[in-house]
Amino acid sequence: KNDTIILGIETSCDETAVAIVKNGTTIVSNVVASQIESHKRFGGVVPEIASRHHVEQMTLVLEEAFTQAKLTWDEIDAIAVTEGPGLVGALLIGVNTAKAVAFAKQKPLVGVHHIAGHIYANRLETEFQFPLLALIVSGGHTELVLMKEHGSYEVIGETRDDAAGEAYDKVARMLSLPYPGGPQIDRLAAEGEANINFPRAWLEEGSYDFSFSGLKSSVINTIHNASQRGEELKSQDIAASFQSSVVDVLVSKTLRAAKEYKVKQVIVAGGVAANSGLRNALKDAFADTEVPLLIPPLKLCTDNAAMIAAAGTIAYEQGKRASWDLNANPSLIL
Ligand code: KG4
Ligand code: ZN
Repeated sequence: KNDTIILGIETSCDETAVAIVKNGTTIVSNVVASQIESHKRFGGVVPEIASRHHVEQMTLVLEEAFTQAKLTWDEIDAIAVTEGPGLVGALLIGVNTAKAVAFAKQKPLVGVHHIAGHIYANRLETEFQFPLLALIVSGGHTELVLMKEHGSYEVIGETRDDAAGEAYDKVARMLSLPYPGGPQIDRLAAEGEANINFPRAWLEEGSYDFSFSGLKSSVINTIHNASQRGEELKSQDIAASFQSSVVDVLVSKTLRAAKEYKVKQVIVAGGVAANSGLRNALKDAFADTEVPLLIPPLKLCTDNAAMIAAAGTIAYEQGKRASWDLNANPSLIL
């Protein structure tokens, strides 16, 4: 048998996910149980509730992944699991499930960094070409990562405060929109005009780092000052102006890094890669360059286990193995 078949498990936040992937490139099955409905009324993910849901859902999701794949345990080469970063209680459910099944079925175990997973979601669509630049924009992360080969990650820029998705979710809360706020702001932004001049945090000359907390404060102050004057700003315009500030910085730093490092590919990953404003602005910016831009389909942008299995395949092929003392690491470094 020449194919490498990896089972992936992901529970770092509020999705219980199991998938089976062939050769790191082909999805055999991909099951995601979302908890969004349970967290909505609290306006964000409640860690304790997330852990409890993972416990309830895990066995069902695991069985469903096998049912959809029409495969048996015999055909699985290894088990890949997200070991961090994320919510510790949530991660623990995935890590312990992976250890239990790896032990019971006598399979090798591979630990995966959640961001490596987001990056490798793209390989389920298109083969990688190195050097490659990845823009990761999610609820917990905003990073520019340079990859010179499979499994090697160099972080050239990252957020110094809030992640892009976190900023979206916080601004959405100010506008009384339901959780998760990103898609809501995206929808409103399309109906508004970017007529409010919110700040853009470029940081020091040449820096690839990001900062979104100043922007968030500026949105709060703008809404507050307007209401003191008895004015009401259109939420569509606030959304469009906020989004244009986020997108401007993300796109221009990504473009500059792609040129400086002379990359052969740019890939976008993470939940905020689903943002239509960002997708369009990136497409426009890279249309004038020779560099191919890859953005995964929406379903692969947000958390799933196919991406963990895809990243795990490379780690497995490179001989990386986790031992039985593999533990959840909420602040794991890429
Ligand atoms: O990657 P992900 O599913 O989970 C993390 O690893 O964080 O990303 C979730 C984040 C949330 O902050 C959500 O609001 C944001 O991605 N998001 C969006 C959109 N869809 C999801 N942000 C902006 N526009 C969207 N269309
Ligand atoms: Zn994620």
